[in-house]
Amino acid sequence: MSDERKRADVVLPGGTIGVVGGGQLGRMFALEARRMGYRVAVLDPGADAPATQLADEHVHASFSDPGAMRALAERSDVITLEWENADVATLRDFERIVPIRPGPGVLQVAQHRVREKDTARSLGILTPDYRAVHTREELAGALREIGTPAVLKTARFGYDGKGQAVIRHAGEADAAFDAVTGGRRDGPVELILEAWVRFTMEISVVCARGIDGEIACFPVAENVHQNAILDVSIVPARITPDVADAARRVAETMARGLDVVGLLAVEMFVGEDGHVRMNEVAPRPHNSGHYTIEACPVSQFEQQLRAVCGLPLGSTDLLRPAAMANLMGEHAGTALGRPGAAHALGVPATALHLYGKAEARPGRKMGHLTSLGDTPEQALERVLRARDLLSADA
Ligand SMILES: Nc1ncnc2c1ncn2[C@@H]1O[C@H](COP(=O)(O)OP(=O)(O)O)[C@@H](O)[C@H]1O
Ligand SMILES: [Mg+2]
Repeated sequence: MSDERKRADVVLPGGTIGVVGGGQLGRMFALEARRMGYRVAVLDPGADAPATQLADEHVHASFSDPGAMRALAERSDVITLEWENADVATLRDFERIVPIRPGPGVLQVAQHRVREKDTARSLGILTPDYRAVHTREELAGALREIGTPAVLKTARFGYDGKGQAVIRHAGEADAAFDAVTGGRRDGPVELILEAWVRFTMEISVVCARGIDGEIACFPVAENVHQNAILDVSIVPARITPDVADAARRVAETMARGLDVVGLLAVEMFVGEDGHVRMNEVAPRPHNSGHYTIEACPVSQFEQQLRAVCGLPLGSTDLLRPAAMANLMGEHAGTALGRPGAAHALGVPATALHLYGKAEARPGRKMGHLTSLGDTPEQALERVLRARDLLSADA
């Protein structure tokens, strides 16, 4: 390994972008990067991961393999990520030879729900009330302080509601502890207890920050979850201008506070009290930002590329109202080669995205649909109709 860091702040077309993670976010990133004349190298342990089908190079190894990270660093002019759980210490080692955007410091916070909320609070951002929890005794104490209902979550590695248990009354505390720790008794566990927020809506903002500190936020998305998995996003979110401003301020404050270069997606609750509370952040493209592919001049994936390559950020204007519906493995017709896909495409202004996953399993994100409309309501009606047609698969 050369000790000389690849210094170029600006990475121009022809350069190689290394991506940690080979899922659908990396796949959609690779599509944009290749369109713009870049090469893409993907690090992922899967033989046929969605992004590797489109990458110029695939470093086929585990995320915790330092040799693999070295191989990626040597091939790349800049490294970005679509999966935030890479090993921070390993990334710090390679940061000396290739720019990593966003940097390991951002990941260190985004990997950990307690650090995320501590950071938000230190920046003056409201969050649900929360306590760090390591033992059953701490959980009992935290429940006395926070009350019920509450939700216990693993501090790390949770996604799509995995590693979470709702506690409706104190009698459910032990069962919740067992559920999220998998009954582990071999040492301390890192958990967070959060007050259950009475929200009127969940929203998110994807924002980009360039190497010069320039920030651009995409419009606020209104998000509907099913079983703690994003189901539908509607844009623009049907909120007041004041709430939209508050949401954008939260995203910008977090992006600046964390010194992000790249994307930061911020999930928030709009409370019954009208206040915006931060839920979590992801330093990468976000499922709720997929609508930007059709509805904005520059998609979240192109914006990620622009930010990490040191290029000017693109316009985040909303060209038309949009709605996005996820396609999960349980929706018949999401497997490749099914006729339902053709029927969905008969709905006006509707785009189909399938991620190239051969096997449809329940709970697995197989693709998504985005519809545009004259109003958010029309876009939503279209995308749900398209998904029904696809799911009928007749
Ligand atoms: N404190 C909370 N109050 C109310 N709802 C919550 C709370 N925490 C999580 N949820 C619900 O569960 C979903 C998933 O939780 P989240 O913390 O975003 O984890 P994940 O990493 O799985 O997305 C949220 O989008 C929301 O619908
Ligand atoms: Mg979430």
